[in-house]
Amino acid sequence: MRTLILLAAVAAVLYAEVFRMQTRKSPSNIARMIKAGTYRDFLAQKHARRAVLASGSQPFLDYYDDFYLGNMSLGTPPQQFTNIVLDTGSSNLWVIDAACKSQACKGYPDSGYTKNQYDSTKSSTWVKDGQRFSIQYGSGSCSGYLGDDTCSFGGLTIKDQKFGLSQTIAEVFGYQPVDGILGLGWPSLAVDKVVPPMQNLLNQLDQPIFTVWMDRVKDHIPMGENAGLITYGALDPVNCDATVTYTPLSSTTYWQFPIDGFAVGSYNAAKKDQVISDTGTSWIGAPSAAIQGVVKATKAQYDFSNELYYVKCTQMEQLPDLVFTISGQQYNVKSVHYVVDLELGNGNCALTFFEMDGGGFNPAWILGDTFIRAWCNVYDIGQKRIGFALAKHKNA
Ligand SMILES: *[C@@H]1O[C@H](CO)[C@@H](O)[C@H](O)[C@H]1NC(C)=O
Repeated sequence: MRTLILLAAVAAVLYAEVFRMQTRKSPSNIARMIKAGTYRDFLAQKHARRAVLASGSQPFLDYYDDFYLGNMSLGTPPQQFTNIVLDTGSSNLWVIDAACKSQACKGYPDSGYTKNQYDSTKSSTWVKDGQRFSIQYGSGSCSGYLGDDTCSFGGLTIKDQKFGLSQTIAEVFGYQPVDGILGLGWPSLAVDKVVPPMQNLLNQLDQPIFTVWMDRVKDHIPMGENAGLITYGALDPVNCDATVTYTPLSSTTYWQFPIDGFAVGSYNAAKKDQVISDTGTSWIGAPSAAIQGVVKATKAQYDFSNELYYVKCTQMEQLPDLVFTISGQQYNVKSVHYVVDLELGNGNCALTFFEMDGGGFNPAWILGDTFIRAWCNVYDIGQKRIGFALAKHKNA
């Protein structure tokens, strides 16, 4: 049962829709997106880090306002991983084993991207566990064995974190700027019952929470620049409104809770559904009826080759708000957040939705980065609830 759920969710976690489009259909886009020059320039810059005792923060790298990654290190001396998916939709940490010589593990040359890998022979603090792990994804699996080492991210350090060392990874990873995944979901979702990094961090944190802010860069297309922040152990008063409204979780596997309804334009469905908040999913996964509602309200057209709906980019700020009703409160998502420029050409911009029907997947919705750009998400582990605060953006 859990495997099935994980399968369906991770299919979305991998942003398969978006990335398949960018890799297979428009190689020039992916080339630009992960253009080494841009990326390395960014890394060369020093981040202004907030040094707050007992909390930490980690900037997101933003690709196309569509793909957000964080960095992390493992081992002694620290081995750096620049492109880690910080994923509330799964609960395991894994990186690529330096012993993996497949093209996917090295990064496909076409993608213009090479991988950071973990070399256990170069870490004095590595302890091999040896137990096998395997995580099934929609487009393939990743598998290898488990081990323990020191893990640092967001200015915080876990002395002894068990993680997966992948010896085989799905082909799709070979085309993405992904060195690994850091799961921020609940322990019950963790493969092999490995204690997730967040749970190991809790005793160091001011508060048992983390806050995610994802920026919207509207005046240009971001290609891996610093645009967003994840704050561990605290709220983010700089980037998020001070008013946080909480809703209790209905399940502590994913970050799951109920919504009371969804409306856009003349479409209004007061239908209770289960949803999850998932930083590892770029778009909003929705039931087909809701997608048809959005299509009608936005007069979007379908692009069969890229398998997505699009509108004119000039309409980016003129379309009706999405309105989610959660615990009696309305949460609007403006079109500047749900329409993004993926360089489709002809002045077309993508509507960031994908259909969830057919997989028998419950929850019915995935609120991915599209929703999180509009609303900072406060993941409250201590009180098993999720909070929303209006996200601040300089540009949108
Ligand atoms: C993440 O990147 C920044 C900027 O390059 C660096 O200062 C920091 O040490 C890195 N964090 C980790 C955990 O590697």
